Amino acid sequence: MLYCIYVYNSVKPLILFRKDKNMDFLELAKKRYSVRNFKKIPISQMIIDKILMAGNVAPTAHNNQPQKIIVVHSQKGLQILKKCTECHYDAPLAFIICYDKNKCWKRSYDDKNSGDIDASIVATHMMMEATELGIGSTWIMYFIPDAIKVEFELPDNIEPVVILVMGYPDAQPVKEHLDRRDLGEYVSYR
Ligand SMILES: Cc1cc2nc3c(=O)[nH]c(=O)nc-3n(C[C@H](O)[C@H](O)[C@H](O)COP(=O)(O)O)c2cc1C
Repeated sequence: MLYCIYVYNSVKPLILFRKDKNMDFLELAKKRYSVRNFKKIPISQMIIDKILMAGNVAPTAHNNQPQKIIVVHSQKGLQILKKCTECHYDAPLAFIICYDKNKCWKRSYDDKNSGDIDASIVATHMMMEATELGIGSTWIMYFIPDAIKVEFELPDNIEPVVILVMGYPDAQPVKEHLDRRDLGEYVSYR
């Protein structure tokens, strides 16, 4: 069952969030698909806060929480984002999820760092929370890291990993979305 809450301001109703009742995680995960067309409806701060909070409770290596997140929602910010990726899809909201090279955990014996993994888990939490709230998203890796660093004035220690573009969906899943390998192809038991 879908729940819609509307808040009326002086101009038009604003959808705050939409929530499916009694949805278990697998149902929620199946509901997610990459959305590349968005309605021109702004996303409320309440929704942004909930999505950020879902990222906040993500696990990170050694609980170092090296993530840094830039919320891009002003017209100016969204214009700047267009200089950094062609995969902006005119979304009304984007999160640039980065990690701090000085904060992430490093494995002592080979120096492998956890930054990409930590940022990806944070982003995944955020993406799933967005899905629960009826907000569509796409994970964007096709961006120019140096452009992000320059345009958003990131210091050298901050590494962008993923841009999540988000908004109210104006598209159904493409048919390839349902192409999934059989478990038997890649799962083994020992
Ligand atoms: C690591 C990663 C990078 C991705 N980069 C892009 C991207 O740059 N542009 C884009 O349009 N979609 C991107 N996607 C979305 C994938 O194309 C999409 O998840 C995949 O085709 C499966 O479709 P679905 O999300 O609808 O299930 C990326 C997804 C992941 C997980």
